[in-house]
Amino acid sequence: MNAGRKIAFFDSGQGGLTVWESVVKKHPQLNTVYLGDNARYPYGNKGSETVTRYASEAILFLAAQQAELIIVACGTASSVAVARLKQVFRLPVIGIVEGFCAEASSLCTEGRRVAVLGTRFTVASGRFEAELKKCGVNLVWQKACPLFVPLVEEGISEGDIAKAACTLYLNDMPDDVDVVMLACTHFPRFAKIIASTLGQKTGRKVVFKSADGEAVLCDSNSEAPPLVLLDSSSAIVSSVDSFLLTHPSPSEFMGKQCDIFCTDAPARFAQVAQVFAHTELPSPRLISLGSL
Ligand code: DGL
Repeated sequence: MNAGRKIAFFDSGQGGLTVWESVVKKHPQLNTVYLGDNARYPYGNKGSETVTRYASEAILFLAAQQAELIIVACGTASSVAVARLKQVFRLPVIGIVEGFCAEASSLCTEGRRVAVLGTRFTVASGRFEAELKKCGVNLVWQKACPLFVPLVEEGISEGDIAKAACTLYLNDMPDDVDVVMLACTHFPRFAKIIASTLGQKTGRKVVFKSADGEAVLCDSNSEAPPLVLLDSSSAIVSSVDSFLLTHPSPSEFMGKQCDIFCTDAPARFAQVAQVFAHTELPSPRLISLGSL
């Protein structure tokens, strides 16, 4: 058992590794622990009571691993469970909603619209819409895109099938959208095909903005301002920065320890993990949570 203080990441599966990777890129010495609850994945089609129970069990496990900050790197759990988790646990719990919505609102021109793409229950919760309204964005278009999740996991992020899924979900996106939020931690790995679909539909340049900076994913000569495809990583990296800056002993989090845990089939978990993390990961260890 490693003794260093750690920052914990939790997701229904491997998608949260997109967030984990951005944080570790910024803080390469950080001690981290990642838990993917793949035995009970997907969360996106489950209700808030169930997801809150699953997430609570995950946090109890992570707390026992010397985690001092819990990052819920899952759009669904962040939408339907984090508010309750913050009340129940003494440990600080951060989801992807608040900082991400603040960032989206800062990129949206007044009177224009923000689009939110997430799982079925992220969209049904209305959590992103409510938070965006708090940040002054009154026009919000939401779309549940559940098929993106298994496609990304199968490594199908381009070609006819990926394109058909994008067209199915994005065809009716209104023209006044400035910012498209990837409100599911799987979706950054689908960004290219989303961008090309939206570029074709709108004729606008599409720029992907993440903790790694900005990249043009679909170019255009149009004079219109670019459409911004936004992922949650920069907001989470900022939250980790603030946590470390205000912590009395941040050096105790530095030791480059990394533990990965999963709740089912570690070999398959490791295989899918490579879709989301580009760095080499330690072998995942199998654990059992609460009612499993
Ligand atoms: N990690 C989930 C999210 O970000 C997507 C996969 C799932 O449905 O569990 O919403």
